[in-house]
Amino acid sequence: MCGICAGIGKNDQIAYVILGLKKLEYRGYDSSGIAFLRNKKLEFIKSVGQIKNLEKKIPNELKENIVIGHTRWATHGKVCEENAHPHLSENKKIAVVHNGIIENYESLKTEFLSDKKFYSQTDTEVFANLIELQKGKNLAKLIQATKLVKGSFAVAMLAENDENIYLAKKASPLYVAINNDGAMASSDISVFANKFDDFYILEDDEFAVINSKNVCFYDKNGKKIKKNSVFLNNFDFKEENLTEKYFMLKEIKEQPMVLRKTYFKYFAEDFFSKWDLEIIKKFKQFHFVACGTAYHSALLGAQYVQTFCKKECKVSIASEFRYGNEIISKNCLYIFVSQSGETADTIACASLVKNKGCKIMCVTNVPYCTLNKLADFVLPTFAGKEIAVASTKAYVAQVFTMLIFALKLADKNFQEQIKQFVLSYEIPSLDKKFLKEIFKFKKIFFIGRQKDYVTSLEAALKLKEIAYINCLGIASGELKHGTLALIDEDTLVVAISTEKSLKDKVESNLQEVKARGGKILLVSNLQHDIEVEFLINIATFSDYLMPIVSIVPLQQLAFEYAISQGYNPDKPRNLAKSVTVE
Ligand code: G6P
Repeated sequence: MCGICAGIGKNDQIAYVILGLKKLEYRGYDSSGIAFLRNKKLEFIKSVGQIKNLEKKIPNELKENIVIGHTRWATHGKVCEENAHPHLSENKKIAVVHNGIIENYESLKTEFLSDKKFYSQTDTEVFANLIELQKGKNLAKLIQATKLVKGSFAVAMLAENDENIYLAKKASPLYVAINNDGAMASSDISVFANKFDDFYILEDDEFAVINSKNVCFYDKNGKKIKKNSVFLNNFDFKEENLTEKYFMLKEIKEQPMVLRKTYFKYFAEDFFSKWDLEIIKKFKQFHFVACGTAYHSALLGAQYVQTFCKKECKVSIASEFRYGNEIISKNCLYIFVSQSGETADTIACASLVKNKGCKIMCVTNVPYCTLNKLADFVLPTFAGKEIAVASTKAYVAQVFTMLIFALKLADKNFQEQIKQFVLSYEIPSLDKKFLKEIFKFKKIFFIGRQKDYVTSLEAALKLKEIAYINCLGIASGELKHGTLALIDEDTLVVAISTEKSLKDKVESNLQEVKARGGKILLVSNLQHDIEVEFLINIATFSDYLMPIVSIVPLQQLAFEYAISQGYNPDKPRNLAKSVTVE
């Protein structure tokens, strides 16, 4: 993971780089740092924690024109200043910020760097020393070093006595922007303000050298290459304003608006008119692949396609798919679901099936992302920028978009029903009376069947992520195969029940919980004949829309639980929003 940002130009670049790093904090916020060239020598400042801590350490009078910066999500080595980037070579002539993982760093150390002293436990410090060790000019050194390295990297490098910033990339994203005042490089386009004139996407095995006058690109043989700048069609550089105390709360509240926007984009603007749906209808199978929350929305996407289109569907966790013995077939459409479009495992799977000649579709929320570049079909979600690490509105947007896709593919006439839903749906307010009682439970299980099972998985993930409660989502019918052994008076079972035909089955499961002294929170739109300790009534819409309705109070519950414990729900410990390493 991690985010890198580098600036070079006539004006002070420290301020720009810090601003950029703040926008990259979603990629990790364990520690951060900058390195700069001062009187031709390399200097650095580092800090543990969020960028604001680094900012406090930078003297007001410090203004520099050549700066590289980094925000870290720890992979190799604990969270401490020594392990924060930038990392310098032993002789302090090379400084590097790095996003990715150097997989062979231990063997590189043994083979080439046994006489060097290391100050951190990171793979990146090995990279810095490896570059230093190479012969030739700085660009040649960087190119040579990348040839020895296995793994993924986006790198920005500074060198003593050299007024350039060097960039290299493999598997991790890196973008460059320039104008008359200078240039900037970053892990994410949204970091650049719209003051830049030209934008470039660095491809794997390409290198760039930027200085205050221009940018030059090179291939892996050091040969200059010409790259065209990309036209960012309506790219929204606008920063999200925090209109609530937390982004997560803001994003939960934005969900009705996201649903309306999705409806508008797909129907009023008739999105699918540009598609040849007949091509997609020809696929015999659909295989969904994703991670985290996106995996949960993929589970629902598969249920929708299977139910409405009567096509065989499969769903895989990306990190499992990539190392499994999957039978890859050209008769199958591979669908990759990802809010960021930058999740390393998901991208690896997309490349894998693409290289085997298969067609891929991506469901993404970020327009200029790596997954979209690979895709034959892109199904965009219109959630807008999601800042909080725990996904809420992006999840709902994914589910809704895949539902529309499935219905469209099945030629179902559903527009009016969906329109009524988006026009009438509002975020309910959670009855705070019983919340205090709920917060006493430290052992919580979420149960459900079919679509409600998916909701139980997603609800459990939310609570785990931000309130640090050890909880699980379970298929209701599986309770008796193990989990029932854990149920006692101190256990809360949250049952999601929206499937009318399965109402009696849910009640039987809840009786089993009651018999063991477990307490129940029922989240339902149905009239249940069972006494429970806590109840959240939800509105009734068509069966296929209920996963969108039922997840919302559970997002709210997780949010309130985190707040009650004094946690910041926007930045949960140990996590990052975009997981760009495997
Ligand atoms: C991280 C985030 C999750 C997200 C998952 C997949 O774990 O914290 O919220 O669901 O990555 O991310 P993607 O961008 O591929 O949807």
